[in-house]
Amino acid sequence: MENQPKKLTTASGSPYYENENSMSVGPRGPLLLQDYILHEKMAHFNRERIPERVVHAKGSGAFGTFTVTHDITKYTRAKVFSEIGKQTRTFLRFSTVGGEKGSADTERDPRGFALKFYTEDGNWDLVGNNTPVFFIKDPKKFGDFIHTQKRDPYTNCKSPTMMWDFWSLNPESLHQVLILMSDRGTPDGYRHMNGYGSHTFSLINADNERVWVKFHFKTAQGIKNFENDEAVKMKGLDADYAQRDLVKAIDGGDFPRWNVKIQVMTEEQAKTFRWNPFDLTKVWPHGDFPLIDVGVLELNENPENYFADVEQSAFAPAHVVDGISYSPDKMLQGRILSYPDAHRYRLGGNYEQIPVNRCPFAVTNYQRDGKMRVDGNGGRNPNYFPNSFDNIVADESYKQPSWELGDSLAGWYDRNAPGENDHYTQPGNLFRLMTPDQKRNTINNIVGAMSGIDGPKRDQIINLQLCHWFRADLSLGMSIAQGLGINMETIQNAMPAQHA
Ligand code: NDP
Ligand code: HEM
Repeated sequence: MENQPKKLTTASGSPYYENENSMSVGPRGPLLLQDYILHEKMAHFNRERIPERVVHAKGSGAFGTFTVTHDITKYTRAKVFSEIGKQTRTFLRFSTVGGEKGSADTERDPRGFALKFYTEDGNWDLVGNNTPVFFIKDPKKFGDFIHTQKRDPYTNCKSPTMMWDFWSLNPESLHQVLILMSDRGTPDGYRHMNGYGSHTFSLINADNERVWVKFHFKTAQGIKNFENDEAVKMKGLDADYAQRDLVKAIDGGDFPRWNVKIQVMTEEQAKTFRWNPFDLTKVWPHGDFPLIDVGVLELNENPENYFADVEQSAFAPAHVVDGISYSPDKMLQGRILSYPDAHRYRLGGNYEQIPVNRCPFAVTNYQRDGKMRVDGNGGRNPNYFPNSFDNIVADESYKQPSWELGDSLAGWYDRNAPGENDHYTQPGNLFRLMTPDQKRNTINNIVGAMSGIDGPKRDQIINLQLCHWFRADLSLGMSIAQGLGINMETIQNAMPAQHA
């Protein structure tokens, strides 16, 4: 039966007898209004595009399996971590950030690492990047920052001037900018890079005790990056390099894996940590908070259809599950609002019913109707709460411990908390741990990128940014200044007073 030809039909299932010639008045006459098949084909085609993601538009995705290898139940009651050997189905979407849907995979850019775990307590989305930190620490700056990564409103081109103007006026970006300018800014595809949850989250155990946590995904394939000129060349040779590499590897049974680890900080430790533990521009040093093994993530199934699963996938930091929760990280708090809002705009109010986003376990609530409601809409069951007919209850065992917003934690909301304006120590530490080759490439990449700054504010932007590099590491600053051909004496004089 499988080999029997199938009938070509309209979307409503009506067979039609031919598919290439529009109905016309005689062979050479005008077309007939009644050619519904022609209308259907043209109209559906006109509706094929949905808005691309406003950031992270270019991406690749695959399904996989997360397997627990170590017991962390003393920290969390999340069912996904409940026992060694436990497996959970996942979907991971990688992406670049600034480019449009057709942009090149090897652009210098952070890479998205967005992971959905289909757990019994609902879908858990960990929407991270391949970097442990981010450019800013307050969500109010996000739109402004992203504008500088996109196109100039006048030239419609990417603009190094906009980028460095923003970065130089926001020194908190220095840590992430240094990573971006290192060879990790141009990874060799998606399989050879780490992933990070980046934010601080909380884990809550069966005794309702909370610890703060960071998630790390270390590539088992080993870190592999392009050097700058290789990445630039690859843009012309194969703009879809990372997509092709991922699909081919999985098709060939070479399933990429990541070793999943966490760092844990107690609430007590958080109170005295020398940096704000909820500041997304800082890491927790491994020496203070060692990596703890958790499990293995493997990607082992390519989606059958790119649009259905990758383009329509929707990840939200708001989607946590019992045993895993938020933290007071201001960026995370902002993202809790932003993503579901973006999904409702991009995919519609019922986006969680699209198969890749759907929780495979029971979803029970009183939300009804809306465009593209395709799950039966709750049938004849009551659509209001409370009611005297069903037995749907809120289960108090899911209640989380409240945050202690006492002096010490509240202090972290204060913009002038200790360590808050130290934007330099950690980038300096990173530079100092690089090998001589890595240092050389990073410096060349920075010099190359900063050379693109132009216009009337060129010298001011360059000098201000140079001051940040100097404050991170003297030799880093010197090498960049030399590379840009800067006379050192002019820097001090050119610094605007408020930034001196
Ligand atoms: P460690 O020496 O214990 O760790 C250094 C980390 O730096 C490793 O995780 C390594 O990743 C990573 N790394 C190496 N080269 C680069 C690069 N070019 N870009 C980004 N990461 C890189 O030191 P600390 O924990 O004390 O951290 C020192 C600095 O390392 C930090 O200031 C931070 O910039 C960076 N870092 C720290 C991380 C953390 O969570 N503590 C995570 C990632 C970076 P790998 O082992 O995979 O090669
Ligand atoms: C995508 C907003 C910070 C990682 C997006 C999207 C929006 C957004 C609107 C598009 C969502 C969609 O259409 O599906 C924001 C805001 C931020 C922020 C407002 C700060 C306040 C971050 C940070 C990270 C990150 C810090 C990583 C640590 C991602 C990833 C995607 C994404 C990986 C793509 C998800 C996918 O593959 O579908 N962001 N973002 N973002 N963001 Fe952010």
